[in-house]
Amino acid sequence: MGIASVPVLSAFARDVAEGLSASVKKLSPQYLYDDLGSALFEAITLLPEYGLTRADERLIARHARAIIDAGDFETICELGSGSGRKTRHILEAAGRDAVYHPIDVSDAALATCKRELGTLARVEAVHADWVDGLRTIRRKRSEAPLLLLFLGSSIGNLDRAEIIPFLTTVRTTLRPGDCFLIGFDLVKDVDRMLEAYDDATGVTAAFNLNLLGRMNRELQADFDLRSFTHEARWNADARRIEMHLVSSRAQRVWVGALESEFLFEAGETIWTESSHKFLRDELAGLARGAGFKELNIWIDSEWPFAEALWRAE
Ligand SMILES: C[S@@+](CC[C@H](N)C(=O)[O-])C[C@H]1O[C@@H](n2cnc3c(N)ncnc32)[C@H](O)[C@@H]1O
Repeated sequence: MGIASVPVLSAFARDVAEGLSASVKKLSPQYLYDDLGSALFEAITLLPEYGLTRADERLIARHARAIIDAGDFETICELGSGSGRKTRHILEAAGRDAVYHPIDVSDAALATCKRELGTLARVEAVHADWVDGLRTIRRKRSEAPLLLLFLGSSIGNLDRAEIIPFLTTVRTTLRPGDCFLIGFDLVKDVDRMLEAYDDATGVTAAFNLNLLGRMNRELQADFDLRSFTHEARWNADARRIEMHLVSSRAQRVWVGALESEFLFEAGETIWTESSHKFLRDELAGLARGAGFKELNIWIDSEWPFAEALWRAE
């Protein structure tokens, strides 16, 4: 075959090929967020069972002034901004001269940030993976201190062993005096955590199943969404909620873009997301381990969630 006829696979296609060939089938949670997935995530944040976003927003709204007063920030960056709804409070406290860089892999999320927050700050969106986006910002930022946001406990989507290396990489893209506001969902009653990822309305199930729909749409796959079910599991040893898509029968799935067939046994799953939960006492160690100094930490009283403000040392 000549080079010209070798199909160029997207990163999504390559990751699907690898993830569905593994002995434990697994896909990165970033692929949950196409336009429909981003809209479904916004709906999740409104669910009575999903107290996490409301806790995060209460803390940010209450402490926005103290956060902004921690430095003379001109640039505010956000990893995985989503719609940026909670960031509104920070931008209002910062004033109109701030430049806001949402970094996200979802076009829909970045478009919402521009539309909703454009009157509060100059919004310069970066369509990129977290670390690539930070490296882009490092090249164009001003000398003044930068405030980096990583909200919604998205840090919990990383494997536990990846957390300190990831935070250390983030630290290397920052300068001494820059600040990092990072949200951590704390361990709480198991039923409460499980319901947050398996709501009675079925929105989280739809969010998870949409990943199969996305592979059908973008990779010409033929997943039968009705023969997979959503499952949320609490893994006590790893202190995480895992989201899985469970194959309800033995089946073969064709992925056209990969010209490959994947076999599923009855009960076999695709592991689509981990949400690690944290202990209050481990947070200062994470800060220190990655080269940050903990300046402040605020905990919500209704839904155990911690908002930590760190400074790059
Ligand atoms: C759980 S949502 C959180 C949104 C918002 N930060 C919040 O707290 O509500 C995760 C967001 O991060 C984005 N995202 C996930 N993985 C990403 C990655 N590796 N790089 C950049 N964005 C990512 C998704 O597109 C989505 O908008």
